[in-house]
This record gives sequence, structure tokens and C-alpha cells, in this order.
Amino acid sequence: MTKIKDIPKVDRPREKFLKKGPQALSKSDLLAIVLGSGIKGKNVQKLAQQIINKFSKTFLDVTVKDLQTVDGIGPAKALQIAAAISLVKRFYEDGQSSEITIKKSQDVLSLTYDLRDKKKEYLVCLYLDARNVLIKKEVISVGLVDKTLFHPREIFEPAFRLNASSIILVHNHPTGNPNPSKQDKSIVDRISYAGKINGIEITDFIIVAGNKHYSFFKELGDKNKNLDYVAEGVQGTLFDLLEIEKPAYEISAEKIQETYFHVPQIKKNHFQLQNRRYIGNKHKLIEWIFSILDKECEGKSFTDIFAGTGVVAAVASKHFDKIILNDFLHSNQAIYKAFFDNGKWNQEKTNIIIRDYNNINGEDLDENYFSINFGGKYFSKNSAKIIGFIRENIEKNRENLTKREYSMLISSLLYSIDKIANTVGHYDAYFKKEFVDDNFFMRPINPIEAKEVLIFREDANSFAKQIQTDIVYIDPPYNSRQYSRFYHVLETLTKWDKPELHGVALKPEPENMSDYCRVSAKDRFAELVNDINANYLVVSYNNTYESKSNSSKNKITLEEIKKILSKKGKTKVFEKDYRHFNAGNTDFNNHKEYLFVTNTKS
Ligand SMILES: C[S@@+](CC[C@H](N)C(=O)[O-])C[C@H]1O[C@@H](n2cnc3c(N)ncnc32)[C@H](O)[C@@H]1O
Repeated sequence: MTKIKDIPKVDRPREKFLKKGPQALSKSDLLAIVLGSGIKGKNVQKLAQQIINKFSKTFLDVTVKDLQTVDGIGPAKALQIAAAISLVKRFYEDGQSSEITIKKSQDVLSLTYDLRDKKKEYLVCLYLDARNVLIKKEVISVGLVDKTLFHPREIFEPAFRLNASSIILVHNHPTGNPNPSKQDKSIVDRISYAGKINGIEITDFIIVAGNKHYSFFKELGDKNKNLDYVAEGVQGTLFDLLEIEKPAYEISAEKIQETYFHVPQIKKNHFQLQNRRYIGNKHKLIEWIFSILDKECEGKSFTDIFAGTGVVAAVASKHFDKIILNDFLHSNQAIYKAFFDNGKWNQEKTNIIIRDYNNINGEDLDENYFSINFGGKYFSKNSAKIIGFIRENIEKNRENLTKREYSMLISSLLYSIDKIANTVGHYDAYFKKEFVDDNFFMRPINPIEAKEVLIFREDANSFAKQIQTDIVYIDPPYNSRQYSRFYHVLETLTKWDKPELHGVALKPEPENMSDYCRVSAKDRFAELVNDINANYLVVSYNNTYESKSNSSKNKITLEEIKKILSKKGKTKVFEKDYRHFNAGNTDFNNHKEYLFVTNTKS
């Protein structure tokens, strides 16, 4: 029996903690420190290991009584562990608060983003507590195009029920004109009067209309003076307030504040489409892109030809009737099928499957393809065993799943592994760590509601010849970094053809190598543009061309893009300051994102 003093000093939990920090310790090492000492015949590490093995998945819910079922754990030690767990839980819960505080009209607008495009009139109420924290958002009425019918009672009843201190109302004008009608003004008068009588403040009444909005904040009176909230009269769009875009070649760029796009479909413990690490994704640029699209383009159908994460298509699905997504990666296609497809899916069934997967203990599993290749490298050995087991199990049960359920499980797995991968966000390399965190947990994805969606996995240039759409969004790779190589683990996991893997990064034979990452990029881009049949071409690109790092250098210059697009139609160029992916050895200072908009009919 090894005694703790037989273990070399540096490997003892306490010494290791002090020397290398908590991340170098396994769960049982950490527990050994909490326990302090073992018992006769069983050292503290062995004791800790037994507890971890026994309660691995239920550890956080373990009771004093449960702990005492482990040989060597008496009431004192059991209490010690239970108290430590409770303490951590308490702090964790305190930090989990997902409060949304409303301080300005902008906060309101990002919570009611979807109203801008509604064809019917809506009246939405935000109920706030005394600290301006959102208690609930409620749709009070949905009316005819030019008439919204409601009674103050419908607004105040939830306010009493929710114990709200104040209310903000948001109403949309499908006509596109945000100016208040006579009816709006009389509604504001009635509601604010009722608010005074009821002791509930009406902080603001905002009318949203397409790209603009009108705030009654000032008119709602002196009562609001001391509020930590700002807005006034007619304002620019939700986007205009955040972004100032300029035609790039005429005026030098102005500093533009970074914004974060609010995706309204939030479901706790589920992955949203944007919850993954992906180089070049446009999540943080989405408002800027759509502020330009809204002004410059018209149409019903939108094609995202290099769709990547699909975040651009997701927002486009709120603006256009028909969405087409294309990307040549297998993993991206599986993700689109899960998030966007309208196929049959029994959510309860997939949730139960995921719950069962989360009860699997890696230590009980044999090695598999995934753990042999990636265990102890991109993932801990146990997590890799679980991931490989789950993937195999999905395949085995494929005939019992609908196509959507199958993609939904694969995507949930892809999103879940991204959260624990021992990488900077792609799979070109992993960190050399003595100990890789062992905490795989699978969460389901939360799908997007879209009207008509078509999904393709084709080379963009072949696909371009088949497109017939109003708007095509073109966001190709900008430099020599191949997406299929960066995300090869996701590709391998999706395809599950278990290829032989090579090199330290464990990559399969190359597939889907993009010409946009090679010297031929310019010619391929010219061909693509020439072949597309659409009214508008919208191209994203950035200015990493000046970068010192070879892999970060652009394959096409901005001038070349402009020239190629101008042959197709009148082209406007917009720019925005932006910070983006930097692998560490690249010196990007004056970073800009560009959006080219070509109207092929002009
Ligand atoms: C810059 S990323 C697009 C990012 C995307 N707009 C987003 O917001 O997530 C470029 C994408 O093009 C895909 N791609 C590269 N070359 C391609 C090709 N020849 N055909 C189809 N897709 C390609 C890559 O897989 C990658 O997902």
C-alpha cells in the first residue's frame, strides 16, 4: 500500500497545487486536499479516488449519508466534503445571475429586435423591478396592420402580478414610419395617467418602424428625470445608433464601437447557433452587416454561399422569406440541418438520449477510435472515450432517429466538444498539458425558426452557377488557413468514417481544400462573381493584407475585389474598425472589416 509519504514530494496534491496551480490537479487530488488525511491502510489519495469513482456524475448532489457509505469516511470527513460542496455551489449560484438591466432605449430595442419586421402591429411590455432589471417581457396584443387594440388593464394586470416597479412599452409601425399617430399619443396619455394612479411608472413608450424608432421618454415627463435611462424623440435605427458606416474610399474611417448582437431565441442550457468558436464568424459584425443590407438591398431570397457558422443566414431568416446556406464542410452542413431544417424532431426523445449520454462514466468504457487518437491530447482520456462512445451510439441508432434528430444529436455533440477542447478554438494544435480537464457534458442545441431553408454542401464556385436568388452574401476565407484543416476533428467526428490520422495534430488526408486560400483566389473569385445570377452581391473581406504573418496575409487585395465587382454592377464599399482572430504572431493594428455591395441591375 503506497503511503502519501512514499509519493515523490512534487506529486503530492498539496505540493503540486502550490507549484503548478489547481488546473494541474485531478478531481481526486483536489478532494484529497479537502480531506487532509487518509485512514489506516488507505492513503488520502486512494480515499479521495474512491469517492470520485463512486459519485462521479452526482458528486455535486452527494449527501453526508451517501458519503459515509464509502469505507473510511466517517461523519466528520463526510461533513467536511458536503460543506465544501455547498460553499462552492452557493458562490456559483450567486455568480449565475442572468439579470438584464435596462438603462437606455438601446437595451429595449435589442430585446425587441424581432418587432422591426413584423407585418402586424404588436404591443409588447417590459416589466422592470426597482433596479431596472427585466422581470418579464410580454406581448400584450397583436392587432391588424393599422390598429392595435388593448386596454390598460391588460398592461397593468401582469405588472401587479409580477410586482413590477416600472413598465416600458414597445409598439411597431409596419408602415415604416416611426412618427407617433394621434392614437399612439392618446394611448401614451392614458397609460401614463393609469400608471400614476396605480403607482407604476411608465418609463418609455417606443415605436419601432423598420430602421427607425421614436421614444416618448422625454414626453413621459418629469418623473423620469432621475432615471438611469436615456432616449429622446425620433432616433436612427437600432443599428445606426451603434454603427457609423462610410463609403470606404471617400471618407476615412471613423472609430466604430463594437456591438454584440442580441439573438432573441435564448433557451437556458441549450446551445445557440453562435455558441461556438469559429474563425472569421460574423457574429459580432452582424448588426453592422444588416444595417447596410437593409438600406442597400431589396428582395425575398438570400443565399449565404460560404455560410461558416450560419450566423448571417440566421439573421437573414428574419428578413427574407427564403434562405439558402452552403458550405463545403460536413460539420457545418450537419449543424445547418440541425438548426435550420424543418424536418420532424421529437425534442423530448433527443433530450432523454442526451440525458442518458450524460450519465456515462468514461472510466467504465473501453477505448474507441476517438479516444485512441484524441484522448489525452485535444480532450482528456475519459472525455474522449465518452465522445467516441456517443458518436458510435448515434450511428448504431441511426435507423431509430429521424434525419433531423440524427443531425440534432451530432450537432449537440459538436457544440459540446468545443466547450472542452484543449485548444485555442481550432484543431491545428492542442496545448501540451500534463492534465487535460475531464468535464465533458452534452447539451442540446436550440434551433432557429426559419420559413423556407435550403441547405447545400458544395464547392462555392460550382454552386454559384446554379443560384437564382435576390441577394448573395459572399464571405470566403481571406488567407491561407484552410478551414477543413483547422476543424478536422469536427469533420472526422461528423463523417465518422474513422480515417487514418497523421502528424502531431492528427489530421486525416486533405479534403475540401479551398482555392480561396491559394494564389488562385483572385481568379476563382472573379469566376464566382461572373457566374452568380443575383440582383445584389454582398461581399465581406478584411484588410489583413498588410499583416507580417504569411498565413494571415490576404489572398486578394481590396482593390482587386472592388475591380472584379465593379464589372458586375455599381459597387459601394463600407468599412468598420474591428479586432479579430490573431494566432499570436501577427501584428494587426489598423484592422478594418469591409463590406462591398454590388447592385447588378444598376
Ligand atoms: C470566412 S468563413 C465564413 C464565416 C461565416 N460568414 C460566419 O459568419 O460564420 C468561410 C467559409 O467558407 C467555407 N469555404 C471555403 N472555401 C469554400 C469553397 N470553395 N466552397 C464552399 N465553402 C467554402 C469554409 O468552410 C468557411 O466556413
